[in-house]
Amino acid sequence: MRVACDACGGLLDVRYDWDRIPVPASLRDFEARWSNRRNPLDVSGVWRFRELLPFAPPDEIVTIGEGQTILQTSDRVGHYVGMNPGRLFLQYEGLNPSGSFKDNGMTAAATHARMVGAKTAACASTGNTSASLAVFASTTGLLRVVVFVGSGKIAFGKLAQALDYGALTLQVQGDFDEALARVREVCSQLGIYLCNSVNPLRLEGQKTIMYRVLEALAWEPPDWIVVPGGNLGNSSAFGKAFYELEQLGLIDRIPRLAVINAEGSNTLYQIYEQHKVHWNEGRTDTSAIDDFYSQMDAEGRRAATLATAIEINRPVNLVKCLRALDVCDGVVREVSDQEIMDGKAQVGAGGFGCEPASGASIAGAKRLREEGVIAADDRVVCILTGHGLKDPNATVGYHSGEGGRAAGRFANQPIVVENDLEQIIAALHKFV
Ligand code: F0G
Repeated sequence: MRVACDACGGLLDVRYDWDRIPVPASLRDFEARWSNRRNPLDVSGVWRFRELLPFAPPDEIVTIGEGQTILQTSDRVGHYVGMNPGRLFLQYEGLNPSGSFKDNGMTAAATHARMVGAKTAACASTGNTSASLAVFASTTGLLRVVVFVGSGKIAFGKLAQALDYGALTLQVQGDFDEALARVREVCSQLGIYLCNSVNPLRLEGQKTIMYRVLEALAWEPPDWIVVPGGNLGNSSAFGKAFYELEQLGLIDRIPRLAVINAEGSNTLYQIYEQHKVHWNEGRTDTSAIDDFYSQMDAEGRRAATLATAIEINRPVNLVKCLRALDVCDGVVREVSDQEIMDGKAQVGAGGFGCEPASGASIAGAKRLREEGVIAADDRVVCILTGHGLKDPNATVGYHSGEGGRAAGRFANQPIVVENDLEQIIAALHKFV
């Protein structure tokens, strides 16, 4: 599977000739599909928008019911962030079959793999990509799957999924970046279909997260989309979605995009906000990016964050993300692990919960609110990329202060009590 340009090494991008493709006159036209619960393509939160990612014949589409996710208003989290009531929304991508947003992209990659007759697929992963690819393979029986995970850092829920779904799992010595570089080599040598977000079809599927946000807001674009940044597939896809919708005359306003890095894994933040490397109408200063990486290597700096999903040194979609930031008048911020975990705890206490990386959305929105970049009355959508049960160790560590750490600021500490009725009742007196 070819994913990059032979001449410049830049990643391939999907472009459609919209003049030759029937596109609905209005986003409202998609609502006709809501009443059709028998056609799996209309039930899928990705493929009910199929005219906007028109690369696959309908009978080749591989779907497992992905993208049935919801947007919820959360005034409690909104209050924490500093928003007025009714202005903060949480988009729960953890409700996907494998528990993360990756299923939106994987249905597109699995479809393309089928179109080209691939029998084996692979990915490197901080955990969620592997869980997603593995569940597509196990439920459809169409592919054999190999997943490469870096050593040590993968959250337990994600590793459990890859093993349970029967993926051949290689724990490669090294970090995610090294595993990704290896899997790219292996795929090209062995003719294996590559399912990381270097594959441009993945991003086509992930565009639909934005279509569902618009759908939930009655097609009225919000003011802000706030999303954690790791390998930068989501942010790149979101920018492409809005660019295309505007080109097609389907929206008249593009939301602003905020991409949030963990402080310990902040390549995009440094490149965009500090070194001021921007899209620059397609003439991005890639030598400045190369210099940045050389210096990072020379100083031996490696990404490190509790939000292991986004612990990435060299985000592969960096340049596409710069394009998205340009399209969406975007900003990038970095937040500490403490802020991430506090944001996550707020989603737990005021919503369905999420994994640490998603907490970065909340922490980032709060930071931008404090800076006055986001106004209290703006409509803000925080993308929650993964389910709360993905990383139980992080959650239990935060609440109970296990592992030598202090319990978090919003900890809900378990109370240890003897198996004695009086003592149990005494412990409950505070609550009842
Ligand atoms: N949130 C979660 C829960 C993730 O798993 C990831 C990426 C991200 C955010 C970052 O998204 O790459 O689009 O900027 N996880 C990848 C993986 C790297 O291997 O599962 P991005």
